[in-house]
Amino acid sequence: MCGIVGYVGHRNALDVVVEALRRMEYRGYDSAGIAILDGRGGLAVERKAGRLANLEAELDEVGRDRFAGTAGMGHTRWATHGRPTDRNAHPHRDASGRVAVVHNGIIENFAPLRAELEHAGVELASDTDTEVAVHLVARAYAEGPTAGDFVESARTVLRRLEGAFTLVFAHADHPGTIVAARRSTPLVVGVGDGEMFIASDVAAFIEFTRDAVELGQDQVVVITKDSYVVTDFDGNPDVPTQPFTIDWDLAAAEKGGHDYFMLKEIEEQPGAVADTLRGHFVDGRIVLDEQRLSDQELRDIDKVFVVACGSSYHSGLVAKYAIEHWTRLPVEVELASEFRYRDPVLDRSTLVVAISQSGETADTLEAVRHAKEQKARVLAVCNTNGAQIPREADAVLYTRTGPEIGVASTKAFLAQMAANLLVGLALAQARGTKYPDEVAREYEDLAAMPERIAQLLTTMEPVRELARELSASPAVLFLGRHVGYPVALEGALKLKELAYMHAEGFAAGELKHGPIALIEDGLPVIVVMPSPKGRAVLHSKLLSNIREIQARGARTVVIAEEGDETVRPFADHLIEIPSSPSLLQPLLSTVPLQVFAAEVAQSRGYDVDKPRNLAKSVTVE
Ligand code: F6R
Repeated sequence: MCGIVGYVGHRNALDVVVEALRRMEYRGYDSAGIAILDGRGGLAVERKAGRLANLEAELDEVGRDRFAGTAGMGHTRWATHGRPTDRNAHPHRDASGRVAVVHNGIIENFAPLRAELEHAGVELASDTDTEVAVHLVARAYAEGPTAGDFVESARTVLRRLEGAFTLVFAHADHPGTIVAARRSTPLVVGVGDGEMFIASDVAAFIEFTRDAVELGQDQVVVITKDSYVVTDFDGNPDVPTQPFTIDWDLAAAEKGGHDYFMLKEIEEQPGAVADTLRGHFVDGRIVLDEQRLSDQELRDIDKVFVVACGSSYHSGLVAKYAIEHWTRLPVEVELASEFRYRDPVLDRSTLVVAISQSGETADTLEAVRHAKEQKARVLAVCNTNGAQIPREADAVLYTRTGPEIGVASTKAFLAQMAANLLVGLALAQARGTKYPDEVAREYEDLAAMPERIAQLLTTMEPVRELARELSASPAVLFLGRHVGYPVALEGALKLKELAYMHAEGFAAGELKHGPIALIEDGLPVIVVMPSPKGRAVLHSKLLSNIREIQARGARTVVIAEEGDETVRPFADHLIEIPSSPSLLQPLLSTVPLQVFAAEVAQSRGYDVDKPRNLAKSVTVE
């Protein structure tokens, strides 16, 4: 949520910053802006509401040569305070125009700070929470104990701020220095040769360096072209940071011939699942990435909570069926945003599995913190190395999908489902609820899935055709049972967020308790059928549900296993998926729903990578 970048080095800073914003635009696209230090005491700022393309057009119009310099910063916004207008676009400046700031997060105490500034006669030029920070730094620099000291002025102000934020400051008097700070929202340093970067995401600088440093909580970093110095908000240098090497390359952050990242990411799913499984079954045992929980601690668990948001939450709903089945532990799946507000019963013997692609979702992070305060054990399933959620967890399993740039989760969702199943097997193994040979068999079934996903992906053209045909439909319903129910929820979410179409997912058994009233002539209803072999009873019940809706005029689109002839008479459109063990079926049945949503969105003329009002990672509660 909001992408920020800072650069000090030897290149044209404008080019570096604009390219970084392009790679981080998935974090927010309400506005974009840049500030360049010209090295002669000048600070040039340009900002524009809307997509980065608007800013670029503006830069072309005013002339890019006005922004010459080798240090600068940039911002791509997801609006929280203040409408997405030019006036609210970052960077914000103080009255002299010599200090600038960009910000990700929310400064929660901005109202009293704003009142204080106004009282002192400062005129604020935007409706944002951010702007107070730049005026406060300018004032601390102008007079008082930190006068003339840019870094100390920034630290003094940071100590006064409440909330979650990453802030980056530039000062025209200090053309070779950028100061940045983080609390809860992400900030990484890229360490180059004679150049330094700071950004919300390594994608911003992957082109130039793979050496990165993840900052910890409440830290300040000062970059110059040859150094980065990290301290806490008091200036104490004795603080933990986490250097790491980025293990994916530039190609992963490019579209690779596809019109949209999302389409590329759908195609990448077999690899994403295979890479997520790789290395986790060693000498007949499931192993996690960072296991700071002993087998004894896993044996002592008597209850599991899964906490997550959005698609990650749906992956948790799928996991519940397998974890309960394999471990006989009760599993509750909770929306992270609700979890801590209802006083859940947690103690040392509770395992909280926190699922987050980004590892920085504020609701999930706060749920993790709440769980830890209550002494629960926390296991993170995450796609971003070293992000805050895995850092605060007791154990980690990474989904290894590489960067997911399309705002709608696809490959990360499939990888999460695979990773969650590994967590279930790890628990079953530690607790002895499955014999080692059973764990091995389940793992082998899982390891066979990437090939089936790949096979399925070659059969998606009829799904695209159907999507084009149904793209004018006012609504679509999705039905499923058992693990097909969360798949129905995910299918509906994808269609809502990408195609802005009214879509609802239901447990098919609930239909007759209300939702069946929605069925009318021609309404498309997508039904996820369970395996006729693995779930024969459910299969026949769902067949009855399909008959009921067909009798009321619904247009039925049925996702069923190959060879399931019983559904054919009731399917106006049949989408076949390879057969698989029941608990693994969501790894397949989700795929046509992703393709369907993307194609409907494209037919309706929408940008599937950047759905309106959304951002890739949600770092505010
Ligand atoms: C939907 C989607 C979102 C995310 C949710 C959680 O396609 O991508 O619903 O799943 O915002 O994000 P993470 O997994 O980063 O915590």
